[in-house]
Amino acid sequence: MKVWTVANQKGGVGKTTSVITLGAILALKGKKVLMLDTDPHASLSYYFGIDSEELTHSVYDVFLHSDSMDQEHWQKCVWQSPVPNLSILPATMAMATLDGILSKKSGMGLIIKKTLNKFASDYDYVLIDCPPVLGVLMVNALAASDKVLIPVQTECMALKGLERMHRTMQLIKTSQAKKYDVCIIPTMYDKRTRASIVAYRELQSTYGDQVWEGVIPIDTKFRNASMEKLPLPIYAKGARGVYAYNELLKSLENN
Ligand SMILES: Nc1ncnc2c1ncn2[C@@H]1O[C@H](COP(=O)(O)OP(=O)(O)OP(=O)(O)O)[C@@H](O)[C@H]1O
Ligand SMILES: [Mg+2]
Repeated sequence: MKVWTVANQKGGVGKTTSVITLGAILALKGKKVLMLDTDPHASLSYYFGIDSEELTHSVYDVFLHSDSMDQEHWQKCVWQSPVPNLSILPATMAMATLDGILSKKSGMGLIIKKTLNKFASDYDYVLIDCPPVLGVLMVNALAASDKVLIPVQTECMALKGLERMHRTMQLIKTSQAKKYDVCIIPTMYDKRTRASIVAYRELQSTYGDQVWEGVIPIDTKFRNASMEKLPLPIYAKGARGVYAYNELLKSLENN
């Protein structure tokens, strides 16, 4: 089981899109994939038509019942997506309250890690989608992962958000004595705009070989695919966005 977390404290940079697209590519290759939605806004869950307000079981259960959860309870939380081999552990709005409930207790940072080790070891990949805020959910996701993917929109303001994310990782790394394998992914790259080119160069000069050498281009087909509630590799497998995520995957597998 490989656990990859997709995180950035900046919103709208392509986190959820990266989880869904990489998840679908892996599933199409025959890998067994679980996507974990830890964002209380539940965009990943909504993407697949799961109404988080109607849900009785979600990642919330993992946190509230971490000690008593058994295989049967775990199975009630997991959904099958329309793509074979691609499962979802959805989110609910109630997860927004977890910080208040859990932050005073100690030892709450490893709940996801422990739960995945117990119930998800038969998956080849677990991909965790994070909310764009630092809190108990993101700390848990980072602690559970062997690789952290940080999508960064290639525009000048995005670099500010990345600085924040970088500081967060340093803090967590120090507190958990954990070494992260980090990959910064330039997203929504538009080669016709100066902003994209400048931001990409700045990313490379500041973060060096932590930055993936490719880019995810702007591709309007991502939005079209989401309207059909399908991952882009299923909706339009020849799209340039799919080609780019395929290249990214090759690079992640080799590093
Ligand atoms: N490469 C791309 N080209 C064009 N549109 C994209 C691309 N990647 C993502 N988008 C679109 O940008 C919007 C934001 O993407 P996404 O939801 O993946 O970001 P996010 O980082 O998860 O946001 P949040 O922080 O709110 O959870 C979505 O409408 C998505 O379809
Ligand atoms: Mg998201």
